[in-house]
Amino acid sequence: MAALADCHPVRPEDAEGLLALARELEIDLVVVGPEAPLVAGLADHLRHAGIKVFGPGKEAAQIEGSKSFAKEVMAAAGVPHAGVLAVARTPCVVKADGIAAGKGVWICETQEELDSALRAAAALGDHTVIEELLSGPELSVFALVAGADLLPLPSARDYSRVGDGDTGPNTGGMGCFSPVPGAPDLVDSLLRPVVEELARRGAPFVGCLYGGAILTDEGPRILEYNCRFGDPEAQVILPRLDADLLDLLHQAATGSLGGVAAAELREPCVSVVVASGGYPETPQVGRPIAGIEAAGAVGGVTVFHAGTAEEEGTLVATGGRVLNVTATGADFAEARRRAYSAVDLIHLEGSMHRTDIALAANDVEHVHA
Ligand code: GLY
Repeated sequence: MAALADCHPVRPEDAEGLLALARELEIDLVVVGPEAPLVAGLADHLRHAGIKVFGPGKEAAQIEGSKSFAKEVMAAAGVPHAGVLAVARTPCVVKADGIAAGKGVWICETQEELDSALRAAAALGDHTVIEELLSGPELSVFALVAGADLLPLPSARDYSRVGDGDTGPNTGGMGCFSPVPGAPDLVDSLLRPVVEELARRGAPFVGCLYGGAILTDEGPRILEYNCRFGDPEAQVILPRLDADLLDLLHQAATGSLGGVAAAELREPCVSVVVASGGYPETPQVGRPIAGIEAAGAVGGVTVFHAGTAEEEGTLVATGGRVLNVTATGADFAEARRRAYSAVDLIHLEGSMHRTDIALAANDVEHVHA
């Protein structure tokens, strides 16, 4: 960010500090990116002070902030979703009710996994939701929303398990690709009814609504909603958007998305996450990173920083997911080749990445819409 813009040292949870900064800099539009400040009500705080904001208010953000609230809204809106189990039994999915930075979900196929998930969920100190385990390819579906207006964005496929072949614990996302060949258009069936239900409740949604869907043999089901762009989904969607993003966000913030169009580019995009060793449980932080410039010089490649900082002139890893090495290409094979050759140029001791991102991107699923 520092390479592109001026950075100001105010924490995202410091609502008063952000309001003061917005006033001082006479900011026209605030885009609230992450879920924690949205769920805490930052967008309301700024809006009440007369500042235009892209991002839902506290009440609408509960669609991500509380799994049980989301279930209740989905039921009222008639959106097909993963069912809740009355008792914990395998196979199932254990979820912490609140937000947990992508780490509050456990897939449990054995009793041992279930016991350990229940312990881990309890340690987060939150109410726990137990869901049926659904199977099928997953699809991330997005729309920009301004109250009643929705502007569909390209869909993407995220790889949420840490290891190749979808093994190991769930993460915030280890890689992504867009478009998803053969993906059904789910905005009208899975996003619009919830947007309308929130508006009916007096909590109109303004921002990016993200539906995490699974394409089961019985049809698409929602696994969860997020009240923001996905990470790493945004990294593969936004480069494929033939539109002025700032203009779109501004129009959403001012409630005027009606009639706006955004073309989806044909070029596929692939993003590979480079993570610190030990992620997601115990990421090793503070280690130096080299090779970013060479990686970014590979044709079609952009290296997005996720968990980095500059310390005494050296770039170091500060978190679990460190970099998103993203490439476009004429087809998925080229985009993958570019992304992985750039990953090979990056040195971060002990780091890891999945090697199968977008490997099967061209396999069109048999979808039951
Ligand atoms: N990639 C999943 C998320 O952003 O929550």
